Amino acid sequence: MTRLTRPSINRVLVIGGTGSIGRLVAARLLELGRLPRVLSRDPDRARRSLPDGVEVVAGELADQPAVRVAVAGVDAVVMTHGAPYGSGDYAAVDYGAVPAVLDALDGHRVPVVLMSSIGVTAAGGQSRELLEWKRRGERLLRAGELPYTIVRPGWFDAGSTSHQAVDLRQGDQIEYGPVRRDHVAETIVQALLTPSATGRTVEVFSADGPALVDWPTAFQAAEADRPGDLDGARDRPGPRPQAEPERVRADLRRHAHTPLTPDI
Ligand SMILES: NC(=O)c1ccc[n+]([C@@H]2O[C@H](COP(=O)([O-])OP(=O)(O)OC[C@H]3O[C@@H](n4cnc5c(N)ncnc54)[C@H](OP(=O)(O)O)[C@@H]3O)[C@@H](O)[C@H]2O)c1
Repeated sequence: MTRLTRPSINRVLVIGGTGSIGRLVAARLLELGRLPRVLSRDPDRARRSLPDGVEVVAGELADQPAVRVAVAGVDAVVMTHGAPYGSGDYAAVDYGAVPAVLDALDGHRVPVVLMSSIGVTAAGGQSRELLEWKRRGERLLRAGELPYTIVRPGWFDAGSTSHQAVDLRQGDQIEYGPVRRDHVAETIVQALLTPSATGRTVEVFSADGPALVDWPTAFQAAEADRPGDLDGARDRPGPRPQAEPERVRADLRRHAHTPLTPDI
């Protein structure tokens, strides 16, 4: 029983909608009768590669007027973007999408689903810089006023892709492994359209077992993030906001729903 609700969500901006996950999200939204809109730096390529019916808006995340055009009139936003690994553009892209969207929405209260990654709370590793910026994006979204869900995928299409079950977890247990890309996309779409997913941070993996059909119950079973806490419900604590780079502190000052103490 897959009960998709939130009929008021019609037009959905997908940031990263030309990517390997975002294109699946856009196609699924279309299939469900919603109107996906994709922001792309290369609109011609985007139009060629996306199904008819997906609206394409030209622009990039650092172009605030373009992001404002992209969010105009949307009922929801999904973020599945990412800078190429090794590019070093993580602050501008992986993190930067979150303040760009919050600034462009300018208080317009719509649901947001952010795709992040497992491992964002891990202390080391070669992806440390990327994951730190992703975590900062998560924390800014939690601090703000928008209804959100954060989805942290495991490793895309690693290992067996024959797993039918979607396994939602919490606490950033990095040892849990692979996830099918279509499972990531379905989790994102279900999170968007299922009210009980709001205010939650979940990791998503593929596993043996029956396909997940009762998404409202699965999301409900996840612990909600604590209001006012920058970290996910079962995360180990992240850095104090005072220890973040000035850019992040400025974004927190601008968007935090309740003042962060001590003053940042
Ligand atoms: N690989 C894994 O196992 C794994 C696991 C967990 C999480 N992740 C995360 O998943 C993300 C990658 O997802 P994916 O494979 O779906 O992405 P992808 O195929 O690499 O596509 C990246 C998307 O981001 C958009 N983008 C990049 N820079 C942009 C900018 N400056 N302005 C606007 N849009 C921009 C691209 O849009 P245009 O090119 O059309 O502009 C494209 O749609 C990465 O951040 C990665 O850390 C990966």
